[in-house]
Amino acid sequence: MCLSKTLTLLLYSAVILETAVALTGGNTNNVYSPCSDTKIQRSDGFTFGIAFSSRPSFFLNQTLLLSPCDHRLSLAAINSQFSLFRPKIDEISLLSINTSSFFPDSYGGYMVAFAGRKYAARSPPAFIANSTYIVTSFTLVMEFQKGRLQNFFWKRDGCASCKGNPNFVCLNKQDCAISTPSCKGRGGTVDCSLGIQLAFSGTDKHLAVLNSWYEVENLKQYSLYGLYSNLKSSLTSQFNNFF
Ligand SMILES: *[C@@H]1O[C@H](CO)[C@@H](O)[C@H](O)[C@H]1NC(C)=O
Ligand SMILES: *[C@@H]1O[C@H](CO)[C@@H](O)[C@H](O)[C@H]1NC(C)=O
Ligand SMILES: *[C@@H]1O[C@H](CO)[C@@H](O)[C@H](O)[C@H]1NC(C)=O
Repeated sequence: MCLSKTLTLLLYSAVILETAVALTGGNTNNVYSPCSDTKIQRSDGFTFGIAFSSRPSFFLNQTLLLSPCDHRLSLAAINSQFSLFRPKIDEISLLSINTSSFFPDSYGGYMVAFAGRKYAARSPPAFIANSTYIVTSFTLVMEFQKGRLQNFFWKRDGCASCKGNPNFVCLNKQDCAISTPSCKGRGGTVDCSLGIQLAFSGTDKHLAVLNSWYEVENLKQYSLYGLYSNLKSSLTSQFNNFF
């Protein structure tokens, strides 16, 4: 397959909604494309992508979940969006995707996190939104072994964080959702921007243990917003009783 062509397609169709750059020195990873392989150490930046599309569009022949970098999916040719992020390894980060002009349900309502080429990793598709409900809070875990990305997965709390809050509905016993018509731009007043909490697990290329994952486990999911005071006011003031 022609990687450069795929990459060009990917990058040209990429809408960089938000870039989490945390390169305060110490970076040794010079791979900036989400469709290339790399090995990381702690303190490196690491580039990955999130593709927004419909659930079936992430599968080949409805069965095989592929990386959005794989040209067989031809995501670039259909109604999809891409975001690129570059968080710092082993640092707890909250990515935010402003939905004031980007309605995930207009692009199929699902997302997949991805990185790598030969060692391609991709998350399962996660439901974000349809015209009825929107899920605004996610935790994405990246698992590395000897510095090589092995896996992305979504960590869910079984709706523990919204239990008893009448603003939320628990979808499929796993996701806290609010009603889409309550969002700004959809007839309501709530800022429905997406917050994606990142965590790292496994080992880096020097076998140093990545453990931001354990820190997340030990914190209540929503309390992490407290670390981001600027975001907190925009993302959470609407759910004050919650924090
Ligand atoms: C997908 O389907 C096409 C046409 O039905 C077939 O030629 C191809 O081998 C299938 N690919 C896989 C990976 O199953
Ligand atoms: C999203 O963008 C709108 C318009 O620029 C802004 O008013 C709002 O505060 C932003 N929301 C977040 C969570 O940053
Ligand atoms: C939206 O998704 C929810 C949860 O999967 C589902 O119950 C509901 O029927 C969907 N609404 C529409 C309009 O597809």
